[in-house]
This record gives sequence, C-alpha cells and structure tokens, in this order.
Amino acid sequence: MALLTIENLCARVGDKEILKDFSLTINPGEVHVIMGPNGSGKSTLANVIAGHPAYEVTGGRLMFKDRDVLKMTPDERANIGIFLAFQSPTELPGVGSALFLKTALNAKRQAAGEKDIDAVSFMRRLRPRATALGITDDMLKRALNVGFSGGEKKRMEMLQMAFLEPDFCMLDEIDSGLDIDALHTVSQAVNIMRESHRSFLLITHFQRLLNDITPDYIHIMMDGRIVKTGDKTLAATLEEKGYDIYR
Ligand SMILES: Nc1ncnc2c1ncn2[C@@H]1O[C@H](COP(=O)(O)OP(=O)(O)O)[C@@H](O)[C@H]1O
Ligand SMILES: [Mg+2]
Repeated sequence: MALLTIENLCARVGDKEILKDFSLTINPGEVHVIMGPNGSGKSTLANVIAGHPAYEVTGGRLMFKDRDVLKMTPDERANIGIFLAFQSPTELPGVGSALFLKTALNAKRQAAGEKDIDAVSFMRRLRPRATALGITDDMLKRALNVGFSGGEKKRMEMLQMAFLEPDFCMLDEIDSGLDIDALHTVSQAVNIMRESHRSFLLITHFQRLLNDITPDYIHIMMDGRIVKTGDKTLAATLEEKGYDIYR
C-alpha cells in the first residue's frame, strides 16, 4: 500500500492557480526529490500536504495511510505522521525550544491515546538526537529559533524531525544557506532516519544535497506539475543542461 497518494491535485492562492493536476505516489521507505525552478510550486505542494490555510485546494485527491488528508486539520495531519521542515523556520518568542518539542510530542501521544512523556524519558529521547545534530543545551533553553542563525534554525527543524519520528518527512530547501558541514549534518539526519516504513520528500535546487543522500526518484517540477521523473542520475543531467530542456 502506498503511504501517500496524490491524484490530479489542483491548488491556488487567491486567484492564482499554482498546482495543476499534480500527481505523485510515494511508497513506504522511498526517498523522492523534487527539483524545479523558482516559482514552480514546490513549496506550495509541501504546504498543501501539510494543510497550510493560505492555499485553497480546488480539485484532486490526497490520501495518506488510506485516509483523506484534505478533510483533516494541520494538527490532525501532523498527528498521523506528516511532517514539514520549513524553508524559513518561524521564530516563536517566549516558547522554549525544549518545551516546544515536548508539547508537540505530547500532542501526538494524546491523539494516539497515550499518556504524556515523563521528564526522564523526555531527556533520554532528546539528548542523543540534539547531540547528533550539534544542538547545545543552551539552544534548547532559548526561545524557538529566536536569534538562531540560518544553520541553527535548519538544524532545529531536523531535531524536530528526529524527535517526533514522523512517517512522512518533507524538507523544503533544507540545504539553502547551509555551509558544507551543516549540510553534511542534515544529510546524516535524513540517512539515519531512512527506514522501511518512513518516506521522504526532499525539495532542493542543488545537486549537492544528493552527494550524501541517494534518492529513489528525482522529479522535475515545472509550472505546477511533474514534467519528468528519473533516478539519481537526473540531478547530474540537470546540473549540466539546466531546466530549459524541460520547458
Ligand atoms: N502565500 C502566497 N501568496 C501569494 N502567492 C504565492 C503564495 N505562495 C506562493 N505563491 C506564488 O505561487 C507560485 C509558486 O510558489 P512556490 O510554491 O513558493 O514555488 P517554489 O517553492 O517552487 O519556488 C509563485 O509564483 C509564488 O509567488
Ligand atoms: Mg520554495
């Protein structure tokens, strides 16, 4: 059974059509990459799957674990395992990073009928993941993303992913603005989490993310839909020839 099925999805912002009959099937364990020029609708796709209220779905189907996602709130989608790491992570003044993680995990547990995590288990879950991502105790105490550098924000997004262990992880331009070391850290976080039940949708402009992560499929998105699907070698073709040959 597919984890995520998108059929002829159409979506718009205001009166602008952005997704036009977009279709994609993602099976458990697969890593899919979407590449495409600016404005082709990549972030819109991720936001629509996550349930961002600014985007209006005007047609098509979106199924996750055999459930009709379009009928669900963003919270409900998160609770059944849909995760989006943002292109520009939001700052949450007044909300400590560790508290944010605990609250998010407990919301998920409550939705599954489980009790809240205790303090010891919480730290046991948090510490090794934070250390692996180079996130210090000081960062965990500070308000979420407030005053964080671009790289720190991206690593904090990865910590949320590692901590919440969602079954479907969307990473929107996680590699933009990262230096080589931070990029490597992010790629490792993805590789460590690759499991037979978990799938990834990586949105990127750059081939360099794919030096460390070997995807199952690469899709080229233009003007709201996929125009070409290939394997990992497609990234090299793109690097060489650009998007113009697909226009
Ligand atoms: N919230 C929004 N309000 C208005 N226009 C938007 C909004 N989000 C996206 N768009 C427009 O939709 C198109 C696709 O944007 P986006 O999905 O961000 O593309 P990409 O991520 O591929 O660069 C662009 O023309 C963009 O300006
Ligand atoms: Mg984008």
